[in-house]
Amino acid sequence: MAKVDVLLGLQWGDEGKGKFTDLLSEYDIFARFQGGPNAGHTIVIGEKKHVLHMVPSGVFNEGTINLLGGGMVIDLILFKEEVESLQQSDPGITERLLVCQNANIIIPTHRLLDGMNEKISSNKIGTTKKGIGPAYTDRTQRKGLRIGDLFSIYFKEKYYKLRKSHEQLLHSNNCNEEVLSDDDFFAAVDWFLESGIQVVYSGYYLRKQLSAGKKVLAEGAQGTMLDINHGTYPFVTSSNVTIGGVCTGLGISTKMIGKVIGIAKAYTTRVGEGPFPTELRNSTGDRMKDVGCEYGSTTGRPRRCGWLDMVVLKHAVQTNGVDEIILTKADVLAGFESLKVCVAYRDEDGNVYNDMPFDLSEKHMPVYKELPGWGDISDIRESYHIPIGLTGYIKFIEETLGVPINIVSVGPERDQNIKTRI
Ligand code: IMP
Repeated sequence: MAKVDVLLGLQWGDEGKGKFTDLLSEYDIFARFQGGPNAGHTIVIGEKKHVLHMVPSGVFNEGTINLLGGGMVIDLILFKEEVESLQQSDPGITERLLVCQNANIIIPTHRLLDGMNEKISSNKIGTTKKGIGPAYTDRTQRKGLRIGDLFSIYFKEKYYKLRKSHEQLLHSNNCNEEVLSDDDFFAAVDWFLESGIQVVYSGYYLRKQLSAGKKVLAEGAQGTMLDINHGTYPFVTSSNVTIGGVCTGLGISTKMIGKVIGIAKAYTTRVGEGPFPTELRNSTGDRMKDVGCEYGSTTGRPRRCGWLDMVVLKHAVQTNGVDEIILTKADVLAGFESLKVCVAYRDEDGNVYNDMPFDLSEKHMPVYKELPGWGDISDIRESYHIPIGLTGYIKFIEETLGVPINIVSVGPERDQNIKTRI
């Protein structure tokens, strides 16, 4: 039986996964296993920039199937908008889309609850306000609506019951000033049911396809440090974005997991609140932000920028069992005479942490190693043209992590990559 390869972010998200899922044309099926419209995978095709939120990134490859797995939370209003916008480039994409019946539905009041939680909480997470946390909360409270419920004659009844429970919560926190109409939601439901997008159970579907020899890529959203269990809790998203989430989100066994590809930026970024030891709140960080166009593709918020953090990468590589790494945005670091890389943390008492501490906080100061920089690399495509500074940087990461870097991305265009191993 064929296996499911996995592509995962190794930092705080926005590592550039979209560019690579789209490029990995060897796969027949692309499957998202967690998250929802909080994700924003940017794909540049020719002159046009597409941002995918719920639709898997293989959708532009004809002949692929793109599955929204059962571990996801799907906002049908935003899904309709996303699909309709993609249909302007390719009207046939609905034939390439499948949705798992187990995925939970984000209803409009989930978004209000997300806003409310941010407003009333003393611990602001800086969420995307897409209703992700409240929708996963309803799932674990076993009262959420799922895609399969759309086919029930009791669907509307269930919807109104859920909406009412949300309104009570909003009311009790004095956050009920916004009155929502259900029209857009029911229009999106009708659209979905008539769209021709098939509803399946992802576990059965994938097992059948793998038996038939089809190649599957599970596409992660967000990054390891935003994982609900293994990230910088509580400043995380509400799902398992790491390797375990592939099995629970798609309904497949651990034995069906094949190669695990990790994707990391050559520096570090983070959107929203939470600890970030190598953050640069100075002109160097601003330079990374400007050169790297570091603005959230879902919310437009500027991303916080900082040096590469090997404690983060080691944690991510080990948690996910990463086999190989794609290093992105190496071109953004061009022109620095030297670069800093965090190899450990030190607290106020002088304790050194080589592994991720329980509560990564302000008191963890980075311990840096300095490495030589490199010049413009955006036109380089061959590994033998890689400048000595970048070669040293790659080697240092590979040796520290014990994992090869197979591709280095040197720009946003689809061909701006260097394969380091021929
Ligand atoms: P939520 O997923 O909207 O609940 O947001 C929780 C945290 O995860 C916030 O800090 C967000 O900025 C962050 N986050 C969620 N999705 C992404 C993403 O796709 N890229 C980067 N950060 C994200």
